[in-house]
Formats: sequence, structure tokens, C-alpha cells
Amino acid sequence: MKYHIVTFGCAQNVADSERIAAGYEGRGYKKAKLIKDADVVVINTCMIRESAENRVYGLVKNLSKLKTENFKFKIVVTGCMVGMAVREKTGKMLALFKKKLPEVDEFLPIEEVGFDHAPLRGDAKHALVPISNGCNNFCTYCVVPFTRGREVSRPFEEIIAECMELAKSGYTHITLVGQNVNSYGADIVNTGVKPVYVKHLGRLRIPTLFPQLLEEICRIKGIKLIDFISSNPWDFSDDLIDVIAKNPNVSRQIHLPVQSGDNKILRKMNRWYTRDEYIKLIAKLKSKINTIQLSTDIIVGFPGETEEQFQNTVDLCKKAGFYKAYISVYSDRPLTTAHKIYKDDVPHSKKKRRWKFLEDLINKPNLVKKQ
Ligand code: 5AD
Ligand code: SF4
Repeated sequence: MKYHIVTFGCAQNVADSERIAAGYEGRGYKKAKLIKDADVVVINTCMIRESAENRVYGLVKNLSKLKTENFKFKIVVTGCMVGMAVREKTGKMLALFKKKLPEVDEFLPIEEVGFDHAPLRGDAKHALVPISNGCNNFCTYCVVPFTRGREVSRPFEEIIAECMELAKSGYTHITLVGQNVNSYGADIVNTGVKPVYVKHLGRLRIPTLFPQLLEEICRIKGIKLIDFISSNPWDFSDDLIDVIAKNPNVSRQIHLPVQSGDNKILRKMNRWYTRDEYIKLIAKLKSKINTIQLSTDIIVGFPGETEEQFQNTVDLCKKAGFYKAYISVYSDRPLTTAHKIYKDDVPHSKKKRRWKFLEDLINKPNLVKKQ
């Protein structure tokens, strides 16, 4: 029997797929390079934007065409689409997906894959290591708290043991993965490691264990490079900055999503910082880690975003000097607060223009200079 996995979305999904693969191998399946050689095709879905969801429908349609040509594989859908449907209490969403995708044989919640299987990794030197799953932040545009549920941290010792094992097997690069790696441990603070209480806007926020976890991984012999995705600006403690600064094996390329450079939009997004606080944070990072390079995520065309508010984002980007940005056009997602209370009122043509402007500014700087 052979399996084939198609993965959409983020590093967390890639890491989940490595565990799904291990699960199949454990049951005696072999990997099929081509879909048409498979007995089971697993689609690990992403729901972050409507375009990602549409790609799943497109793939299932194409697969069902292959099936009518006498290929006999089973289609299993897992990942964020199923996560969202099984968490939706009325059952209506699961019923809707089943109706839209009658060709699917099984909707499998990713939790049933779990962390029990040692992952079948895609690379011999670079490993993805999930440290938490889910998110408690409820940014108003984001579907992740609904697809993956509340944040659950993996046990500290289990992560360290996995990293030590990786080092022993010759891995030199580790990427720590979670929706908010820097709030890691908020749910497991009574396990003996002293937590760091992150200060935000002069108040103590949540306790986290991320600085300690990172520091411990830095000490593992053989691990030459450690990076992490993704962090948020409001749990980025001074302790974490210090750990990065004093450990040269932590990557100097840091991803710090800003989403918008306008205070009113940030508030509407339920992002817990102002543009000035973000600018101050990156100034602190640059002063303590002098070779740092920053990348970011930005959403353009959030409900009600005016030209002036967009220009505030442009201005922040110029000040920050990001070396890379993942720029998204706002996509209205079911269940989110933005979907419930705001109208998706920025015309698509405007969203596209704003997207291209930032894309050229940050990701194609040579092109902009030549013009
Ligand atoms: N529309 C557009 N982009 C989104 N993102 C998350 N939700 C949405 C949405 N509804 C982007 C954010 C986030 C990245 C993973 O995807 O920029 O940081
Ligand atoms: Fe989504 Fe915000 Fe959580 Fe990131 S922090 S996963 S953008 S809700």
C-alpha cells in the first residue's frame, strides 16, 4: 500500500505532514512519488485565506477526475479545514464541507495524528520542531484560533529530548515552530522551570518559558543554527532578546509580523501594540543584536483601511527596513470577529494596488530604485 501527501499552508502544516507520513510508514505503507501510484492521497489543508481553501476544492476536483480514469486511491482530508469543522459545535460546517466535497472518503482531525510518531523528516540537516499548537490571541481577521483551537505547549523536556536526538543524528539546523513561539509555555508554567513574565504596556502579561527553552537548545552540541516562526511583538520579552544576543547560533534573521503600521487598524485587528511600540521594539532588537535582519507579515485592505492608513504602513516599512515581507490581501474568513462586525469594503483593485506597492518596495527594492 502506498500514500501520497499534499501539504498546503505554513511550516506547522509541513511539520504535521511529516508526522502523518510517519504514521503511514508505521502501518507498513510506502511513499508514492506520484498521486496515481497511491492507494491513499492525504490533503493537509490551510484555511488562512479564501484562496488557500479554494486550492483544496480545485485539487479534490482534479483528483476525482483521475479517479474516474480508473485510479483507485482513497481521498483523506485533514488539517485546518477539518480542525475548523470539528470545533464548530453545531456540526453545520462539517456537513457543508462534506456536501461541497462528496468525493472525499474521510475527514480526519489532525489531533488523531498527534505527536506520538517520530516525524519522517524531509531534510537530513534541517528539522522543523513544533513547540506548541493553536493560538489564544484572536486577531480579528484570523481563523487559526478556530482551526487549531487554544494554544497547547509541548512539554519542555520532550522538546529538548527531540532536539538532542536530532543533534545526535547529524541535524545542525532547527526551526522551532508554533503560532506564537514567544508565548510558549504559558499553559505549563508549573513544571519547575522559572517563567519569564512579559511586560506589555507597563503591565505584566503572560508567563512564558520561551527564553529558557531557546537557551537550552542553544547549548546542545552540534546545533549550529536555530530559528523560530512565528513570534508576535507583544510577547517579545527583554529576556528573549538577551538570549538571542548572547547566543550566536540563534539566527539573526527574525520574523516579526506587524500586519499594519496604523494604530486604528491595529486596534481593529486586536493586535496589542501601537506602531511606535513596534518601532521601539525593533530599535531595541537592532541595538542589542547588531547584525539582525527583520522580515514581517502585512495585511493590506483590512476593512475600512483608508489610503492614509495604508500610507502609515508604507511609512513604517520604510523605517523598519525589512529584508522580506509576506504581504497578504485581506480575506474575509468565516467565524472571525472581523467577519462578524466589519464589512469587507476595500475594493479588490485597491487591495491589489496596495499589495503591489509594498511588494515592489520591500521584496523588489532594485526594481523600485531603477524606476
Ligand atoms: N486575510 C489575509 N491575510 C491573513 N493572514 C492571516 N489571516 C488573514 C486573512 N484573513 C496573514 C497574516 C498572518 C499570516 C500567517 O497570514 O499576515 O501573519
Ligand atoms: Fe492568527 Fe493572530 Fe494567532 Fe497569529 S497571533 S495565529 S495572526 S490569531
